[in-house]
Amino acid sequence: MPETYILGIESSCDETAAAVVRSGEQVVSNVVFSQIATHQPYGGVVPELASREHLRAIVPVVRKALADANQTFPSIDALAVTQGPGLAGALLVSISYAKALAFALDKPLIAVNHLEGHIHAVLLEERQKGNRQLSFPVLALVVSGGHTHLYLAMQGECGWSYQNIGHTRDDAAGEAFDKVAKLLALGYPGGPMIEKLSAHGDPTAVSFPPAQLKHRDRNDRENGQDSDQPRFDFSYSGIKTAVLRYVETHGLRDSIEARRRAARAIAQPTAADYLSHCDRKTLDLVASFQHAVVGDLVGKTLAAARASNAASLFVTGGVAANNQLRQRFERDSAMEGLSVFFPSRPLSTDNAAMIAAAAYPKFVAQDFAPMNFSAEAGLALK
Ligand code: KG4
Ligand code: ZN
Repeated sequence: MPETYILGIESSCDETAAAVVRSGEQVVSNVVFSQIATHQPYGGVVPELASREHLRAIVPVVRKALADANQTFPSIDALAVTQGPGLAGALLVSISYAKALAFALDKPLIAVNHLEGHIHAVLLEERQKGNRQLSFPVLALVVSGGHTHLYLAMQGECGWSYQNIGHTRDDAAGEAFDKVAKLLALGYPGGPMIEKLSAHGDPTAVSFPPAQLKHRDRNDRENGQDSDQPRFDFSYSGIKTAVLRYVETHGLRDSIEARRRAARAIAQPTAADYLSHCDRKTLDLVASFQHAVVGDLVGKTLAAARASNAASLFVTGGVAANNQLRQRFERDSAMEGLSVFFPSRPLSTDNAAMIAAAAYPKFVAQDFAPMNFSAEAGLALK
C-alpha cells in the first residue's frame, strides 16, 4: 500500500480541528482552534455559538493543516470527517464542508465516529513510536465531557469493531468536573482547573460514597445488549449533588460568590488567580471530588478488564489528560500485569488527527461514505 495522506476534519463540540495523517501512523499536521474563550462566560458550551464559531474557523483551520503538512487539496488522498456523536449543528459545519471538498476534488470521503477517533488516537501514537505489537483483547475507556464508555475493541479483516460493555447512566465524568467547577465558580472547562487546585487540597478530607447501580440499564435491552453479559456502568450525577450538599451544609456559598465576582473582574483568570480566592475547605473539597471520580473510573475499568481478560487497556478522551487518573491507572494496572496506554495530552482532548487515523483502515477497506450521509448527534459505536 503506497503512503496515504488523509485530511481529517472535526467539529463535534467546541474545537474546530483539521489534521493530515500519513497512513494512519504519522501525524503530519494537527491544528486545533479552541472556542473555550467564547463559551467561558456561560460556564459551558452554547450550541448556537459553537456552530457560528465553527463556520468562522473551518476554512482557515483546514488551510493551515494542509500548509503545515506541505500538502494541497489535490495532493491528499482522501477526506475524513466526524459524523457523530456530538452537537448536530456543530457536526454539520464540517460534514457540509468535507462533502463539498470531496465532491469538488473527486476524492473519497470517510465518515468517522468521534469515539472511534479517541480510541485511534492511542493506536496512532503507538504506531508513531514504532510499537506495532498490540496484545488483544483491548479494552478502551473513552472518558470525556460527553462520554464515559467502555468498549472491547476488535480488529478484523475489514477494519475495527467495538462492543460496548459499560457506559454512564447519567453525567459523563468530564461533565461532572465541569458542573462541579461551575458550581464552585472555578471557570470552564472544569477538569484542568480542578486538577490544578486539587494539588493544594487533601484528597481524603471529604468522603463520597461510591455510586451504587443495582439494576441493569433498561435501555440496554432496547439497544440489543445481551442481558447475560456483565455490565460496568458508571454514574456521576450523585457525586455532583453530594458536592452541592457539602457546599450548603458547610456554608461555602459566600466564598463562592466572592470568587465569582473576583474572577469576573479578570479577563482570563489563571489557576493562581482561583487559588488565591479558595479557602482550605474548597481546596479539600475539589481534591476529594477528583480523588473519588478517579477511584471510581479506575476501579470499574479494572473490574471490566479482569472480567474480559483484557491484555491491553486504552484510556482516552479529555479526562485522560488528568495526571491523577494516569498515575492511578499506571499503578493499579501494573499490579494486575495489564499494559495501559494513553494518548499524549494534545491528542487526549478533541482533535482531527484521531479522525484521520481512524479513517485509514476504512480507506484500506474502501469503506467510503455515501454523499447523502448526515450528522448523527447520538451515533453509537459498533
Ligand atoms: O474529549 P474532549 O476534549 O471533548 C469531548 O469529547 O467531550 O473532553 C473535554 C472534557 C471536559 O469535560 C474537560 O473538563 C475534561 O475533558 N478535561 C479534564 C482535564 N482536561 C480536560 N478532566 C479532568 N482533568 C483534566 N486535566
Ligand atoms: Zn471528544
